This record gives sequence, C-alpha cells and structure tokens, in this order.
Amino acid sequence: MRRFIVIGHKAVTAADFKLDDLAGGAGRLDVLLRCINSAFFLSHDLRKDVEVVLILQGPPSPARTIRLVGKELRYLNPDERSTGALIRNALMRDARSEERSTPGIYVSARNFQDVLGLMEEGTEMVYLKESGEDIRTAELPEDVTFVLSDHMDLTLDEESLLLQYRPQVLRLGPVSYHADHCITIVNNELDRRHP
Ligand SMILES: C[S@@+](CC[C@H](N)C(=O)[O-])C[C@H]1O[C@@H](n2cnc3c(N)ncnc32)[C@H](O)[C@@H]1O
Repeated sequence: MRRFIVIGHKAVTAADFKLDDLAGGAGRLDVLLRCINSAFFLSHDLRKDVEVVLILQGPPSPARTIRLVGKELRYLNPDERSTGALIRNALMRDARSEERSTPGIYVSARNFQDVLGLMEEGTEMVYLKESGEDIRTAELPEDVTFVLSDHMDLTLDEESLLLQYRPQVLRLGPVSYHADHCITIVNNELDRRHP
C-alpha cells in the first residue's frame, strides 16, 4: 500500500469555510484537495492501494487529521469543490479518536506526532525533500509511506520529528514541484517498479 502524509500548515480545522474560497479562507485547502486527486485518480479508475493522510494544522484548533482509504472510498469526484464538501462534512464531526465520516473518509484530532506514532513497526518511510537523494537510485518497496508538505516547507520541529523515524530523504527532480505533482511523480515511479 502507498501512503501519502501531507501537512497542511494553514488548513482550517473547522467546517465553516466556503467551498468557493478553498484557496483563501480555507487556508490553502485547495492544495490538499489536489493531493487527493493526484493520489487516487487514474483515467476512469481509482487507485485502491493508496491511503492519504491530511494533517490540517488550523486555525482554529491545533490539528485535525483526515484519512482517506482508497479501497473504501465512495462519492469521490475529481473536482476540488465536491471533495472540499466531503472534507467539510468530516470536519463537522467532533471526533477525538478516529471516526468514519463517509465511506473511506475518517476524521480524528491526531496531530503529526500522533500520526507518525501510529505507523506500523517496520514501515518504510520516505521524506520528500528537494535536497534529498535522487528517487531513481533508491530502493522502494510496494508498501511505503511518503511525507510531504503543502505550499510551505516542513518546519524545523516537524522535520526533526520525522527524522527520528529514519526515513529515506528523496528528491524527485532538480526543481521544486507542487505537492500534488510530487504525488503524481511518485505514483508513476512506483507504477513502473511495481506494475
Ligand atoms: C511546493 S513544495 C514546498 C514549498 C517550497 N519548498 C518553497 O517554499 O518554495 C511542496 C512540497 O513538495 C515536496 N517537493 C517539492 N519539490 C520536490 C522535489 N523536487 N523533490 C522532493 N520533494 C519535493 C516537498 O515535500 C515540499 O515541501
């Protein structure tokens, strides 16, 4: 299974945002919604072997996590607005431990540290970073978890927390890409290695 953990540094944690203001009042939720599209959508199909974990760091509350599970997902469409509505429905729930909102979409009050702490023993972790080693020379198993950031870099605290899990630090190319494009590149790289 491929897992993508994406940190939304400004993504709102309350359900009071407008669907026509995803890039503004929703704290760049548009970036995270495009990550969902890149992670799951194929032409006329949906990837079942993918999980996406979005860490919304607020305001107003410090962090809430939305987890999307490919093999359970229903009602996911490729337009950002309808996916934004699914995320907004999830945020309406006052869930501390994880609760299912709609099929394949779970919400909790987990933060980045909680999410990393829940990784299964032996999970292969990859930190996507522009200054890392070239992904083309890296060994990548089929079961792998990638961590990336939204429109900002990970903070020093987030990075040092992640490095405690001894991830491979990998770069996808010589320039900085949008987060959703990184996911498309990774999916392509893994499709070639594990067709
Ligand atoms: C839009 S970039 C982050 C912002 C960018 N570093 C800046 O402030 O100019 C989003 C994220 O995608 C990942 N990323 C972007 N380009 C990458 C590359 N060439 N190799 C690996 N990861 C990359 C990193 O995790 C990065 O934090």
